[in-house]
Amino acid sequence: MKLWGGRFTKETNQLVHNFNASLSFDQKFFEEDINGSIAHVTMLAKQGILSETDKESIITGLKGICEDIKSGRLLIDEEHEDIHSFVEAHLIERIGEAGKRLHTGRSRNDQVALDMKLYTRKEVLEMDSLLKNLLSSLLKIMKENTDTIMPGFTHLQKAQPITLAHHMGAYFEMFKRDRSRLHDIYERMNYCPLGSGALAGTTYPLDREYSASLLDFYGPTLNSMDSVSDRDYLIEFSSAMSIIMMHLSRFCEEIIIWNTNEYQFIEIDDSYSTGSSIMPQKKNPDIAELVRGKTGRVYGSLISLLTTMKGLSLAYNKDMQEDKEFVFDAIDTTKGCIVLFHGMLDTLTFCKDKMRASAEGGFTNATDAADYLVNHGVPFRDAHGIIGQLVLYCIDKNISLGEMTLEEYQAISPVFKEDIYDAISMETCVSKRNTIGAPGQEAMKKVISVYEKYLSE
Ligand code: ARG
Repeated sequence: MKLWGGRFTKETNQLVHNFNASLSFDQKFFEEDINGSIAHVTMLAKQGILSETDKESIITGLKGICEDIKSGRLLIDEEHEDIHSFVEAHLIERIGEAGKRLHTGRSRNDQVALDMKLYTRKEVLEMDSLLKNLLSSLLKIMKENTDTIMPGFTHLQKAQPITLAHHMGAYFEMFKRDRSRLHDIYERMNYCPLGSGALAGTTYPLDREYSASLLDFYGPTLNSMDSVSDRDYLIEFSSAMSIIMMHLSRFCEEIIIWNTNEYQFIEIDDSYSTGSSIMPQKKNPDIAELVRGKTGRVYGSLISLLTTMKGLSLAYNKDMQEDKEFVFDAIDTTKGCIVLFHGMLDTLTFCKDKMRASAEGGFTNATDAADYLVNHGVPFRDAHGIIGQLVLYCIDKNISLGEMTLEEYQAISPVFKEDIYDAISMETCVSKRNTIGAPGQEAMKKVISVYEKYLSE
């Protein structure tokens, strides 16, 4: 059934129909479309715009359609232009005259704005809970590894010793911010466009507050032109998803590096690895690579949507139909990546000995050796120079700072005493760093308890 056609004298060209149609993708929100319609007719009846009998039969009809689509008894065929026409046509087929009253005081413009909002709102919450689950796993790893020493890097060069808990904590912060972005989006988007009509509201005495409350919105939107043409929340959501993907991608990059033969900091579980068709020895981190790879796709959705919107005059323009495929794809991709990444993280093994050994090499305690001199009265700039010389000496001898004899130390500076070894041990380097946010166990325990409280809320 077409929702229009009265003023036309010719049939639509088939290619035009196909090009114009959105049913192949907007069927994704058939349930939201039906729930929105149920709220709409409930409000119409309360306002005396629709009779109680018509309301009842429309609601029964709509619920039947919903169940039949879910159970597969009613197939969504391509004959209709979009999900709105599909549902309305089937309603009229099922209940007759009353079905023709469903669209009173409504346009597809406010209808689609509502459907997309309802769908997105649900997905924002779903994504938030997936991130929360991921954070629980991260916190578990943190709690178990406040003493697991590993090298921290800058420029991908070993820099200073840290702990695995500290490294995981960095990602905890990122995903925590991602959740708070989702919460912000929810707060801003949760206003109901239903009742805005095509662009200028309607002449019927609609109760927009009431339909908004039926659908759990904070209230109605306040400008009908903006209501039918606002896609900001989709851009914000795409942006938030892009940032989530960027975080996952950075984490994946580290997992890929840690999983190499050269590092061997971790072992990805067999169930989350893949093999090579030619090289029998290979065990590849495909999942991490794919998550990293799919990041570009989600960025693409953000840029596409921004570009689609940038030249649009008010109010609704058909260009806006292009919002759906991008956003649906970005949502499915991001959710899939969070779930897969989470599974990979939960099953991987941390090779703590390898991490520890790696931290010992690369002079990660050089800063602490300089601090030792400073604590004994040497100015920092001089201390920096002295330790630089020691490092050169060690490189030449192929030893670490901890392997130098006291005589060797004292040959360079008499300030060094026996306690230098303790001062530059990995344990000391980590445990002395106790400013909040640092890897020291004391600081880390405080942060962990903040995280515990955060996750229990
Ligand atoms: N499929 C359309 C969309 O997604 C529904 C709204 C149609 N409105 C219109 N005036 N043609 O945007």
